[in-house]
Amino acid sequence: MKLLETPSMTRTSSLRGLAFLSAFALTLANAQAEIRETSVWWLPRNVNMFGHDVDFLFYIILFLTGVAFIGVFFAMILFLIKYRYRPGVAAIHTHGNNALEVVWTTIPAFIFLALAIYGNEQWSKMRRQTPPANALPVAVVGEQFGWNVRYPGPDGKLGKMVAAKISKENPFGIDVADPAGLDDFTTYNELVFPVGRPVRLYLGSKDVIHAFYVPEFRLYQDMVPGRVYDFVWLKAEATGNFQLACNQLCGQGHYKMFGKLSVVPELAYEAWAKSKTPPPVTMTGR
Ligand code: CUA
Repeated sequence: MKLLETPSMTRTSSLRGLAFLSAFALTLANAQAEIRETSVWWLPRNVNMFGHDVDFLFYIILFLTGVAFIGVFFAMILFLIKYRYRPGVAAIHTHGNNALEVVWTTIPAFIFLALAIYGNEQWSKMRRQTPPANALPVAVVGEQFGWNVRYPGPDGKLGKMVAAKISKENPFGIDVADPAGLDDFTTYNELVFPVGRPVRLYLGSKDVIHAFYVPEFRLYQDMVPGRVYDFVWLKAEATGNFQLACNQLCGQGHYKMFGKLSVVPELAYEAWAKSKTPPPVTMTGR
């Protein structure tokens, strides 16, 4: 005898499928809610001083490509209808139009040039300007799979980092003889930034390429081992809780390489920093 599905069996299994799908969707929605404090469907909110320019450029490009998209598709559909096959109507043969070609090549060329110049200017502001002198220096060194973070102690100075000295035992590549580093304190996967004060990052890697990425800061920087990146800085304009996510596929544990990042009022930052007792030996990361 053949096994046949009865209508009621089909209904049960499709109901089960539906239940599974909605449970899956709920899990996804929860996972999203945990990562994103704000909109999942559009840009996350921006809290960095430089983010406005990044978003501005994004919207300009979105507008230009949107206009081009609508124009191209409108023309295409129009031509498809206008020049469709009709019996008895001969096809038109054209060798193009030089004036038109010059126009639609020159205009985009100038638009691209303008975007490149503007983008380059913004990039210079973000990465080529010297960070402000009152910036809080924070060292972040990626490893498989987590973030070593180092903050200056009461002297406000970080110990000097040397890329060649970065090792398993010395994730920050600190010179033990450097007095500036003696009162530094370290955390693991925990970052606190004061609001309204520039933060100068010193980024490095212990092993493979990682990337410092916080969408709400519109900030992304690869960290290639053997280098200390000392030119990245930001200024948070609003408080909140964010996630420092690694954005370079760096191994099996890449997905869980994230740090909790809070932006808090200056006084709360001072209190937090005070609560972190500096370890007697500051060479090790944790
Ligand atoms: Cu580190 Cu991905």
